Amino acid sequence: MSESDRATGTGGRAGTGVGAETRGDRNGDTGRDTHRVIEPSVLYVGTPAYLVATRNPDGTANLAPASSHFALGRTIVLGLEAGGQSLDNARGHPELTVNFPSASQWRHVERLAGVTGRDPVPPAKAGAYEFEPRKFERAGLTPSVSDLIEVPGVAEAPLRLEARVRRITPSVNGEFGMVEAEVVRVHAAREITVAGTEHLDPEAWHPLIYAYRHFFDRGAEVGWTRKTPFPVAPAPVERWELAGGTWRVAEVREGSARVDLLRCDGGEVVETITLNDPRDVRWAAVKLAEDGR
Ligand SMILES: Cc1cc2nc3c(=O)[nH]c(=O)nc-3n(C[C@H](O)[C@H](O)[C@H](O)COP(=O)(O)O)c2cc1C
Repeated sequence: MSESDRATGTGGRAGTGVGAETRGDRNGDTGRDTHRVIEPSVLYVGTPAYLVATRNPDGTANLAPASSHFALGRTIVLGLEAGGQSLDNARGHPELTVNFPSASQWRHVERLAGVTGRDPVPPAKAGAYEFEPRKFERAGLTPSVSDLIEVPGVAEAPLRLEARVRRITPSVNGEFGMVEAEVVRVHAAREITVAGTEHLDPEAWHPLIYAYRHFFDRGAEVGWTRKTPFPVAPAPVERWELAGGTWRVAEVREGSARVDLLRCDGGEVVETITLNDPRDVRWAAVKLAEDGR
């Protein structure tokens, strides 16, 4: 932080709004910044880890742990390091599978953390990594034949994607490639899907989260958005609606919510019900948020 930042208490980048709100600014008491400027070694804030399978030049499969990715629509973009076998393979044979393990499978991922499918091991990895041509065996995982591509998936991974590589863009610093791939098939273990729908069940699905070089399971569900597929109204509210009435969430507190049931014509409150079931309370919180309250 610069001297002028210190004087204004902006925590750096004065005028940008970044770090501009400080305890000192708000309360005028401590004068201490709420944020520190840090230089973390990595910026892995916490994304699901995955195992990417690619095809080696000799036709065998490579498998490597990774976490850098995002998905939009049917496109998944992977960040794969230059010098790794996976990136070279994706260039040589434009198909891959992206296999998301569950949190409980982290040891399988870790078994591949110190190996590369590249022979000889690149100088940057010398000493820290060893060449391993049989990654599936090393990880204790089973290849599963894909439906539409030649690269296998990981049978044990609850969620696996078959994808065709559409473009690989080198990063500006040359350290990795951005692999844009079109997902052509999704395989989901039955137990993480909602029967009778095309949906994953977010309560059943526990991806392995990689955050700042630690593995985590995900925590408890804390909220819903209006796009959540199943924000089912609590039974009494639904009954009231079916009978032609309207309703309004009156209040949401920690652990409970109150809903006014209204007459459809005059809008008078006929009854106020209290919700205690966590799902119902969350439903009420979403409705309140939707109203901007
Ligand atoms: C949890 C975890 C996450 C990783 N994330 C990435 C990543 O996002 N991109 C990447 O290229 N390498 C990542 N790596 C490192 C590669 O797995 C490692 O460099 C491996 O040797 C690559 O194997 P390959 O040369 O056979 O492709 C990660 C490793 C671990 C254990």
